[in-house]
Amino acid sequence: MSLILSIESSCDETAAAIVEDGSVVRASVVASQIAKHAVHGGVVPELAAREHLKAVIPVTESALQEAGVTMKDISAVAVTQGPGLIPALLVGINFAKGLAQANDLPLIGVNHFLAHIYGAFLDRDPEILNSPETYPLLALVVSGGHTSLLLVDKDGSARQLGCTIDDAAGEALDKGAKLLGLGYPGGPIMQKTAEKGDPERFDFPRPLTGGAGRALAPENLYNFSFSGIKTALLYHVRKAQDAGICDDQWLYDTAAGFQRAVVDVLVKKSLTVLKNYPVKTVVVAGGVACNAELRRMMAERLPKRVNLLIAPPKYCTDNAAMVGGIAWHSYRKNGFSAMDMDAFARLPQIVRVPFLD
Ligand code: KG4
Ligand code: ZN
Repeated sequence: MSLILSIESSCDETAAAIVEDGSVVRASVVASQIAKHAVHGGVVPELAAREHLKAVIPVTESALQEAGVTMKDISAVAVTQGPGLIPALLVGINFAKGLAQANDLPLIGVNHFLAHIYGAFLDRDPEILNSPETYPLLALVVSGGHTSLLLVDKDGSARQLGCTIDDAAGEALDKGAKLLGLGYPGGPIMQKTAEKGDPERFDFPRPLTGGAGRALAPENLYNFSFSGIKTALLYHVRKAQDAGICDDQWLYDTAAGFQRAVVDVLVKKSLTVLKNYPVKTVVVAGGVACNAELRRMMAERLPKRVNLLIAPPKYCTDNAAMVGGIAWHSYRKNGFSAMDMDAFARLPQIVRVPFLD
């Protein structure tokens, strides 16, 4: 049995976890900085780094305590290497290096994007990961930084079919919520506001999904674009302000219509992939995968032959359990990182996933 201690600090959550053999989460502790960034209307990288500095030791101590283990029981230290905010990543990486060095343990740098996908496999039967029945697998990764479709084959080879050409879905929800004066982070507040609204009252565009314009370009078949929905919202707000119709119900219906448009695009693009590839499993991962409307629409509109895997919300938003889980597969293959390991900001091209043999 191997226990991996993992650290996550790529954005505005400082997290530590203890994961057993890649699937059993013995402890997962998350310290959110949301309140600190809310006053700025978004994440401030230097502020995030300073908050990670304060929180990283307490969350690690809590994780060890919650799991009922000490550093002597740990087999390796894993840490998010990127993509993410460099000042924020460096805090976690430096801390993980110190911890590994002091305890004579191997260090494992983890790709945050792939860790999000792995979140869907935590606390589940590990057999699902290796079963040929699971592949080809389509991962829709939707967070504040990513909106991407990754196709994974049973030999572990992977291909990014498409991604956003402007804003990420979470970013669109965050910016939309800001525009509506709902606060930060926008995704959860947009969902709550939308629950009281009628999604059919206002119609927002579904960019790159129709049969005209840029949507017809072959390279855009699996790409996303959310900036147009955001601009449409801006004009919608101005028009309503001019007409003096911005009452509570207008706000609820606007949120519902806007959220419906974002979700509809995500579902439509996933269905387009299913038309063209023999996908057996769809994983929806990342913070936006918490969204109740997206979860419902995916379950409703995906063909029944396809297995839908969405993690519980605690493993969708940033957490360290997904980092410790995926790192176990590198640990088994002695895939360790060097002590001079550096952070990276942007998503590199993905050609393999590390969680298949
Ligand atoms: O994965 P995550 O925690 O951080 C990144 O790696 O970006 O995702 C954060 C994003 C934010 O944009 C947030 O608004 C969105 O996930 N989010 C949601 C919900 N909960 C979080 N979006 C829609 N509905 C939610 N319930
Ligand atoms: Zn994330």
